[in-house]
Amino acid sequence: DYAPTPDDKFSFGLWTVGWQGVDVFGPASRSLLDPVEATYKLAELGAAAVTFHDDDLLPDEGERAATLERFEKALADTGLGVEMVTTNLFSHPVFKEGALTANNREVRRYALSKVLRNIDLAASLGARTFVLWGGREGAEHGASKDVQAALDRYAESLNLLCGYVKEQGYDLRFALEPKPNEPRGDILLPTIGHALALISELEDPSMVGLNPEVGHEEMAGLNFAHGLSQALWHDKLFHVDLNGQHGPRFDQDLRFGAGNLRGAFWTVDALLGSGTSKAYDGYVHFDFKPPRAEAADGVWDSARSCMRNYLILRERVQAFRADPDVAAALEAAEVGTLSTPTLADGESLADLRAATYDVEGLAERSIGMEALDQLALEHLLGVR
Ligand code: GCO
Ligand code: MN
Ligand code: MN
Ligand code: MN
Repeated sequence: DYAPTPDDKFSFGLWTVGWQGVDVFGPASRSLLDPVEATYKLAELGAAAVTFHDDDLLPDEGERAATLERFEKALADTGLGVEMVTTNLFSHPVFKEGALTANNREVRRYALSKVLRNIDLAASLGARTFVLWGGREGAEHGASKDVQAALDRYAESLNLLCGYVKEQGYDLRFALEPKPNEPRGDILLPTIGHALALISELEDPSMVGLNPEVGHEEMAGLNFAHGLSQALWHDKLFHVDLNGQHGPRFDQDLRFGAGNLRGAFWTVDALLGSGTSKAYDGYVHFDFKPPRAEAADGVWDSARSCMRNYLILRERVQAFRADPDVAAALEAAEVGTLSTPTLADGESLADLRAATYDVEGLAERSIGMEALDQLALEHLLGVR
């Protein structure tokens, strides 16, 4: 019956169900949801963990200690964990021109101090992943941002943060979350590929990986499942933000399964290791926004549906991968052959150049990919 269990490792950002519907054209459409109440409710729905930005849980310095006490009681009462923590470096106008890569040095120093404080909190709550989403790290104008200097500062910040975590002996890794635009006109590290490239320039690349989000890659017109597979190939899929999007437009943050449904099928397949490759073993984290039009009931319906859709898709993907007709279609499409090295052991490039090739015959060979894809579609549609 697609009921979530703790083994499914479902996790939700407190800011998702807590989103009050404020948008560019209007104020909140829903009243404030107490994050501690939300924690109890998410446990009841079947989540295994929650995540938050410092300001989601602790917006008020005066109430920090009391709220933390209530929150830790909720975790103890429900058995929920805090698997990831992240920092709000985008809402306060102090970050209007960037945080870790703001032109203004005082802003950068303040941003770093906010992250450091939140790392201590993350470690004290047992979180193992620390996400950095640079929503305000970017620009609207050409000359207003020296992109190479900004990347220097991004790398500097990450090196300092990694050094701090090691010095403190925390069991914590960082995960960068790419996004092409919104709220800035153009955001730095816009895609999975850009973020991977920056990580390889850091002092200790092993401490930094990715938190890719479905909608963000699709906003850039990219194939999310391919991005996940490449992140897995680099051993960099530290975390994931699942949601829904259709097409390159504003960040829709739909519930998982809404929007690009075929993309969602391949997303689950990629997370499970695409049949024969490396699989993701972290938390299945949902980062969506219940539509502004919904009232409180719709908020919980959408949260429930994220998990239900994941479980349904997982069942469909597993059935697809277990189907003997699919195995035959994969074989016909030579999918498994791609795992054989192009040059055999002991062979030289001279051997390869001296060989004869039936170029015309190869050009005419059957590919069988439409048949394979139709099998996937029929599994997705539930008719097989
Ligand atoms: C977005 C982003 C953010 C980040 C989150 C973590 O939708 O633009 O997903 O929601 O994931 O703020 O910092
Ligand atoms: Mn998003
Ligand atoms: Mn996200
Ligand atoms: Mn989001």
